[in-house]
Amino acid sequence: MKLLIINIRELYQVEDTPCSMVCGKDMAFLPSIKDAYLLMEDERISAFGEMLSLSSSLIADKVIDATGKFVLPAFCDSHTHIVYAGSREQEFIDKINGLSYEEIARRGGGILNSAKQLHEATEDQLYAEALVRVNEMIRIGTGAAEIKSGYGLNTEDELKMLRVIKRLRETTPLTIRATFLGAHAVPTAYKGSQSAYVDLIVNEMIPAVASEGLADFVDSFCDKGFFTCEETERIMEAGARYGMRSKIHANELALSGGIQIGVKHNALSVDHLEFTGDAEIEVLKDSSTMPTLLPGAAFFLGMNYAPARKMIDSGLPIALASDYNPGSSPSGNMKFILSLATIKMKLTPEEAINAATINSAYAMGLNDTHGSICIGKRANVLITKEIPSIYYLPYAYTSDLIDSVILGGKVVC
Ligand code: NIG
Ligand code: FE
Repeated sequence: MKLLIINIRELYQVEDTPCSMVCGKDMAFLPSIKDAYLLMEDERISAFGEMLSLSSSLIADKVIDATGKFVLPAFCDSHTHIVYAGSREQEFIDKINGLSYEEIARRGGGILNSAKQLHEATEDQLYAEALVRVNEMIRIGTGAAEIKSGYGLNTEDELKMLRVIKRLRETTPLTIRATFLGAHAVPTAYKGSQSAYVDLIVNEMIPAVASEGLADFVDSFCDKGFFTCEETERIMEAGARYGMRSKIHANELALSGGIQIGVKHNALSVDHLEFTGDAEIEVLKDSSTMPTLLPGAAFFLGMNYAPARKMIDSGLPIALASDYNPGSSPSGNMKFILSLATIKMKLTPEEAINAATINSAYAMGLNDTHGSICIGKRANVLITKEIPSIYYLPYAYTSDLIDSVILGGKVVC
């Protein structure tokens, strides 16, 4: 199956040789070709270039005329929690009335509320609810996502969540990476004996997850009021013994030390980072750990944004992700994340797009196959509507500007 897009006004994020990530000053640059074509064969990108260089003898099975439209790699969303049951809009009201995220958690709300709802849901119900979210994410331009467990908080329910993620991976065109997040909160049954719960994660949950091959990565909510650095290190070491690299929730609520621990154990990413100082930035330099920012959570919780500008100006790469979850970011709209990154964190649109494509692909180990327009990569692209420029994407922050989405070389919407 050959799918050809012609007359593209500008084709963005093109690469001759695949790079792993874009750092610092280079993030301001988004390589592009004007008046371009893009050829996809089966699931992969097979050629691209200027229209002038397109051979007239090429015969494609389907041709899309993109006159006046822009083409970009589909968004990569390297941090989500989209397998959950129900919703938590009552807590949204509690927050409006002045309770903090931590206060809600202490009252048995927050993650424990979702754990209760998830426990009562069947695997089929969870799959059906998550499928709606996956389809919505695809419709608004996401082509690859990481999905975490972490609302199970006991072995059986964590496995239930991970099996749902596996089923989503097998039945949808979204490229999916799975992360085991048993250390998301201490379940009610272990209140007062947090270290016994960490023992359970290390001795029972991680081996069970690994024996079914259900997770690519391991995560821990390393923050004030949740899991300590020492506990997180134990979890990272246990994950590593089973071949799972870590992606750590760090420094969302305090200077937790999570960034240092993440780098020490060669985490693939450290995520959130609202509390990041000079020492943390220094530690991230010369590491292979991707700082991943989730401005949707800062927006929704009314917190400070991570110091993205300072990180990039210090030479670091950053990735952006939605953190789609029922408590702190009930949205998987990566275009809105571009708006938050530009408006609230002062990234240029080019920097934000690099962060939401190639760097976010890196943060889930997919940079060889996703995140840019490069021959041999998976044919995951989005076509915009007719807009004045790609700056219009973050600028018109609530407009639906995605015309169509192609995943694995097939038009999916
Ligand atoms: O990434 N920070 C921890 N976990 C999620 C929130 C999950 C929830 O509140 O349900 C986050 O923001
Ligand atoms: Fe999260």
